[in-house]
Amino acid sequence: MIRIPSKLVEAIRQNVSDSETVNAAQLRANYQSNKDHQGMYDTYLMSRMPATYAAISRVLQEIPLDANVETVLDIGSGPGTGLWAVRERFDTLESYVGLEGDQGFISLAERLNTSISEHVVAWMPGRYPKGLPNIKADLVLMSYTVGENSPETVAKTIDHVWAHNVSEWLVVIEPGTPKGFKSILEIRAYITANGGNIYAPCKGNYNCPLIGQDWCHFSVRLERSQLQKKIKDATLPYEDEKFSYLIVRNTPVALCEESSRIIKKPMVRPGHITLDLCNESGYERKTVSKSQKETYRTAKKVEWGDSL
Ligand SMILES: C[S@@+](CC[C@H](N)C(=O)[O-])C[C@H]1O[C@@H](n2cnc3c(N)ncnc32)[C@H](O)[C@@H]1O
Repeated sequence: MIRIPSKLVEAIRQNVSDSETVNAAQLRANYQSNKDHQGMYDTYLMSRMPATYAAISRVLQEIPLDANVETVLDIGSGPGTGLWAVRERFDTLESYVGLEGDQGFISLAERLNTSISEHVVAWMPGRYPKGLPNIKADLVLMSYTVGENSPETVAKTIDHVWAHNVSEWLVVIEPGTPKGFKSILEIRAYITANGGNIYAPCKGNYNCPLIGQDWCHFSVRLERSQLQKKIKDATLPYEDEKFSYLIVRNTPVALCEESSRIIKKPMVRPGHITLDLCNESGYERKTVSKSQKETYRTAKKVEWGDSL
């Protein structure tokens, strides 16, 4: 379960127009009407930002803590969700640049982030690919933004980003839908053809065994704040966010033959656990029975999205 930092929960509460009176029906109406811009920002802050924060945080857990990430470029940074997540993960963070095409989101990002100013933070207005800077960053993040653009725009953007921005890590996150996975696959194909090394969810540049069969996606559980519960008319203290992702690195990845990704929720049944595993040799469904003591103990602990 991902906890949303209390400072972020509070910053969101302070930056929505009327957190006291807002309700679920009003938010749904705001979301459907592009005319009410303020309503759209309110909706994003209350209902999407906590979920995208959780997805980014979960994906960043794949990158080792000692990766020495000092500089970050966040492309399509929205209200600065990525800044909150990278600073939580890496205490080595020194500077962060957010590129964003919507001035309203930039203003929001500035307001939200006043309480976490210990890093050098810059918000850069501009639309990619044209507005992309020529700066190198240890980690380049694109979260929940690629799908808002045409394949041509994405292709030009990745071309620039890979050549001019990524020093070591590129992280792309999309909604956990067939469409989101398709975008991830297109970026994966470009990267493998251009010298990048796929780091996660697969370790290695092999052909994705799921193409044409299924879509690779994961789920992260996040704690719901009082405000989130209220605006969603929800009673559950948590929600699940589905996402697809890709982590690429510049340095060649050490391949570990044993390493498989758990690509579905493990099915726990009396006396056995069924795991859906994906690795270089393909996709495999494996059943571990209680009699396989050591393996069963391990299988009981693993979750969807872990590697084994
Ligand atoms: C769904 S929001 C995601 C925001 C943030 N990355 C997150 O994960 O919460 C997508 C953001 O990407 C921005 N965006 C989409 N296409 C863009 C482009 N071509 N250039 C700059 N920003 C773009 C949008 O304005 C929006 O703020």
